[in-house]
Amino acid sequence: MFLTKYQERMLNGEMGEAISKSFELIVKLGDLNDADKLIPIKNAQIAGVSYYTVGESIFSFLELFSKDKIKVKVPSWLNPAGMDTVKWKEMGISEDFAEKQNRIIKYYMDMGIELTLTCTPYLIGYEPSFGENLSWSESSAVSVANGYYGARTNREGAPLALASAVIGLTANYGLHMNENRMPKVIIDVQTEIKHFSDYSALGYWYGKNFKGLIPYFKGLKESSVDQIKMLAAAMAASGSVAHFHIENQTPESKLVDLGYIEENFEFLVEDKKSVYSIFQQTKEQADLVAIGCPHTSVDDLKKISSIVGDKTLRKGTDFWIFSSKKELETPGSKSIINQLENKGIRIFTDTCMVVSPTIRDNYENIITNSTKAAFYLTRKGQNKVNLQSLEEISMEVFE
Ligand code: F3S
Repeated sequence: MFLTKYQERMLNGEMGEAISKSFELIVKLGDLNDADKLIPIKNAQIAGVSYYTVGESIFSFLELFSKDKIKVKVPSWLNPAGMDTVKWKEMGISEDFAEKQNRIIKYYMDMGIELTLTCTPYLIGYEPSFGENLSWSESSAVSVANGYYGARTNREGAPLALASAVIGLTANYGLHMNENRMPKVIIDVQTEIKHFSDYSALGYWYGKNFKGLIPYFKGLKESSVDQIKMLAAAMAASGSVAHFHIENQTPESKLVDLGYIEENFEFLVEDKKSVYSIFQQTKEQADLVAIGCPHTSVDDLKKISSIVGDKTLRKGTDFWIFSSKKELETPGSKSIINQLENKGIRIFTDTCMVVSPTIRDNYENIITNSTKAAFYLTRKGQNKVNLQSLEEISMEVFE
């Protein structure tokens, strides 16, 4: 890969070990992927935050940046942590876990990274612009950034996104290149996609069957970003799909060359049912409803509130929603939050059902409307999950 003289000096350690290591990581990956050069990024979204998922090894990695007093070069924000940073005790998190989690967060904060602690930065004012290069690492956010906004990011590993944030550059390969953004499979959606869980089912089915290939969806009605985030998260979870197009909706759908299409398929009502049946795993009363994968918007909260109406949560079932602090500060959201909390619904921020240990440790039978959450919660057999729409959930757990 071509490096300028200045970049070579950074790689060779002129600015210290952390900068050198950051260059090394990115150049190595770039060389492996035949990148021609480094390109500037506009911002970075950094995973590798939850102590539950990263473990002890993160400390020596972050210490490398701390000892050189490194600050990020571009606006950067964080993925969810393993706990709500304020209400962690209410989540059943131990003192020991909280201490370690806070240490990790402080390392990132000292580097100038904003403590957004969310997988939906685009909901809190950080919508990417068309065509700009980013270095994002949370898989659902990567897919939304590419597909819904037309920005350009590979699905970066957490160390890579941090390295990019530190040097303000990434390697020019993969989804940064026009030719790699073309769709390979047309999916003609022939069944109604109405609920968030339907978008999630479509994404799960697609990812499972067409791993890594970029889809071009036909037959999907104009969809909101909250609906799209369910689709994108599911495709990323079940099939590492990092980009997509929707006919007449997503910004690149009119620009892409359909000559790259290799296969045409239909998504039928039986396909949708097949996903719901994979995640119908228990007939016992659910001990938890978990909503917010990806993190909920205030619009989602309003929808939940209107679906639930005057009903009250039945005994024996907890109801947790995950969002971000900044989203919940949206003007006018306080009354919705109060309405939901008065019904016994708990709203946590900074974390989620997957990257916090507490749900696996304390609950067994879970209902969710997200196939991404269902996929990860059941992957190692820890939980049994039923996939349902918000309307079905409301009928089942509210009286
Ligand atoms: Fe976000 Fe956690 Fe789901 S990070 S996409 S809520 S697994």
